[in-house]
Amino acid sequence: RWTNDDFSETPGHIWTLPSRPELFDFRGVSMTHFFTDNWENVQNFKARPDDVLIATYPKAGTTWVSYILDLLYFGQTSPERQTSVPIYERVPFLELIELYLLLPTSPRLIKTHFPVQFVPKSFWEQNCKIIYVARNAKDNMVSYFHFDSMAMIEPDPGDWNNYFQRFMQGKVVTGSWYDHVNGWWKKKQTSPNVHYMFYEDLVEDTGREIDKLCSFLGLSPSEDERKRITGGVQFDKMKKNNMTNYSTHARMDFKTGSFMRKGRVGDWKNHFTVAQNEEFDEDYKKKMKDPTLQLRTDL
Ligand code: A3P
Repeated sequence: RWTNDDFSETPGHIWTLPSRPELFDFRGVSMTHFFTDNWENVQNFKARPDDVLIATYPKAGTTWVSYILDLLYFGQTSPERQTSVPIYERVPFLELIELYLLLPTSPRLIKTHFPVQFVPKSFWEQNCKIIYVARNAKDNMVSYFHFDSMAMIEPDPGDWNNYFQRFMQGKVVTGSWYDHVNGWWKKKQTSPNVHYMFYEDLVEDTGREIDKLCSFLGLSPSEDERKRITGGVQFDKMKKNNMTNYSTHARMDFKTGSFMRKGRVGDWKNHFTVAQNEEFDEDYKKKMKDPTLQLRTDL
């Protein structure tokens, strides 16, 4: 089991586990102990009405939206936070309860990769605002493959062909991409407190998506502030910013890749073979039956 000591950071040091963690079935979802060790505490978490939860399937743009929210809420009031606290500490994981209980801010910004059915009930009881970010499956898969190669906290991804099959079967951490995006989409239909957004829309027009976020959250930044945030969260800026590029994170092997990798739509075309693309599309049609959920696979 992991303890809080495992999460203390030593900048520049590559943290090593004796081995990569194992994937196992947890209540019907593939998980590692990293996401389940604190299950009881997490389920008993007492959300506050002003908590904001960012929910994503891994690699869908969690860090990007975390940073946007952090700037919207604290960019003006706590500028030192921007230069001294890494984004993964400003917006910690729900799954690692010990860390975010210490969060000094109000509102607390919290992120999770949980499928919707795992979210603690107090978030719903307190009518917390929840932001879900979805990314097209093909790019999501590619990004996840590269991340798993460099993140020691993830099971070994194996080679691309093998990973491709495992992703379609949901045998990666937090389970099936298809179940995740569909489950949250269904929940959104009955929960006005869920704002469902798409990575591709953020790439297309970041300012427009920030405006939508602001109206959902009831925020009204000045025009200057809005421009500053829209500029500051562009990929190249975040890639250079040590507080957002994860370079301070001890559990990533930066010899293998970078966290801020490409930040593009359509990189799957550099990975999928023609045969894989056909196989994927066939399988996708069977799993994505709801015509109201429009995730782009054609980009
Ligand atoms: P790639 O691996 O395709 O580059 P998460 O934060 O959920 O782990 O998602 C990481 C993915 O979001 C990575 O995708 C990363 O480059 C991308 N990303 C992060 N910030 C971004 C930004 N400002 N613009 C575009 N993509 C961004």
